[in-house]
Amino acid sequence: FQPKPLSGKTVLMTAGPTYEPIDPVRGITNISSGKMGYALARALVMAGAKVQLVSGPVALPTPQGVERIDVHTAREMHRAVMLRAAKADVFVGVAAVADYRSVEVAIDKIKKAGEGLTIELTRNPDILAEVASLPAAPFCVGFAAESQNLDVYASGKLAAKRLKLVVGNLVQDGMGGDTNQVVLFDADGSHPLPRASKTEVAAGIVAHLARMLDAAANA
Ligand code: C5P
Repeated sequence: FQPKPLSGKTVLMTAGPTYEPIDPVRGITNISSGKMGYALARALVMAGAKVQLVSGPVALPTPQGVERIDVHTAREMHRAVMLRAAKADVFVGVAAVADYRSVEVAIDKIKKAGEGLTIELTRNPDILAEVASLPAAPFCVGFAAESQNLDVYASGKLAAKRLKLVVGNLVQDGMGGDTNQVVLFDADGSHPLPRASKTEVAAGIVAHLARMLDAAANA
């Protein structure tokens, strides 16, 4: 009998985009299908973890065995995560959180008038950085989707957000599709995984995570 590598671990994670309303019919969002996050949630369950998935709006079924908490905005996602973060062993931020939201949300639809329209935006909380800076922070994993300079930006995030692991990919390699090519960045350097289905990539990420948790426990 082989115990599953993550049995007994609680993993809190985010996935999908966030949606920041401007008025009842318009808003700002980031492009994210949620496929990579949901594949990761499935792989974590298969590895024996208890998984809580705080999800932005996506068109995907809830994976078996996953507790899903649906949210729309970054602030809702932030609240849902902070309520649960202290009890989690691992936090994985996969969501493409909108960095800014509209200062004002109009109750009624904004009518066309004039040639220009200015919308004032304000910064959203950085959920992952905030979880990683908690006094008893869970083991924090981030994602970095970049259009260029992946090594520089992804390893920069490892340090800036005080993460243990960053999963980097070039947006042109993974967005919306069913396959992905990622590079894992940790204190030991960078570890590229072969291009594969998001399901296989998720299994590779979970295997690496399990080895790191093992090493941390035995250190
Ligand atoms: O800085 P950047 O947005 O590229 O960092 C990406 C990582 O940080 C992802 O893991 C993402 O889920 C997380 N993030 C977050 N809250 C934000 C912005 C990003 O949790 N407001």
